[in-house]
Amino acid sequence: MSKTILIATDKPFAKEAVDLIKAVIDQNPGYELKLLEKYTEQSQLVEAAKEADAMIIRSDKATKEVINAGDRLKVIVRAGAGYDNIDLAAASAKGIVAMNTPGQNSNAVAELAIGMMIYMARGKFNGKSGSELKGKTIGIHAYGNVGKLVADIAKGFGMKIYAFDPFIKDEDIEKDGVKVVHSVEELYSKCQYVSLHIPANEKTKNSIHKGLLMSMPNNAVLVNTARKEVVCEEGLKIVLNERPDFKYLSDVAPDCAEELIGKYQERVYFTPKKMGAQTEEANINAGVAAVEQIIAYFEKGDKRFQVNK
Ligand code: 3PG
Repeated sequence: MSKTILIATDKPFAKEAVDLIKAVIDQNPGYELKLLEKYTEQSQLVEAAKEADAMIIRSDKATKEVINAGDRLKVIVRAGAGYDNIDLAAASAKGIVAMNTPGQNSNAVAELAIGMMIYMARGKFNGKSGSELKGKTIGIHAYGNVGKLVADIAKGFGMKIYAFDPFIKDEDIEKDGVKVVHSVEELYSKCQYVSLHIPANEKTKNSIHKGLLMSMPNNAVLVNTARKEVVCEEGLKIVLNERPDFKYLSDVAPDCAEELIGKYQERVYFTPKKMGAQTEEANINAGVAAVEQIIAYFEKGDKRFQVNK
């Protein structure tokens, strides 16, 4: 019996990516593709999981219910970086391997971070005089795949770049022409722009608090292409209220978006739907990597990108 690889994407990949994933499956006998796109109820994902041997998801929620429904399910690949949407404990309990595809969509996210910075620096293209990125300070909060690319692009814009990442050796950051700081406090107090690239987990949720944001220099801009949960919304509201020079840009609106847009329309911007990885290139890179990882796991037991060890 052939193995079913389910692509379950509430926010679909570009058609070109799905075609290429299908081409990989067609080249490998013994696998078939099932597609669940733009579903509206979580129950549809639970239902589809019942028939799947492997699942490719994006920000779709692989909850305990989904995982437990998958009687044949052996592997879940998050086509992307963050895997906070997978119940890893539930997967491990059932012996299911969970993986991500690190780096595959990073350039798209980095370009969006810089794009949003320009959009805000130019007053959302309102025709009035704005400001430039050249010469400004930018702090990269976490120097992983995306952070490194943001630094690279920012360098091209002539920005002064700082980074904080306790998991990366100083010399590996410094060789990119980026100055290392050794605390979040130092990063925020030094940089007019801060670009967030930390994952969402129990340690980081709400960790970007009022104190850090208040310490940022004049005309501070926080750019969040990570996860909305890492920013403390109560603190953010106070900072936007107390600092008329503070701006917040986020890929995926915070829960209090409506209130913030109502009060500070000129100083906040939120993408309507998570857009960071939404390019044809990123979809192809992450989607094809995901299907190849699934086949490598079934054929060779390759667990290189496993995240629930
Ligand atoms: C990621 O973690 O890779 C990004 O947040 C992209 O998420 P998406 O695939 O839902 O667009």
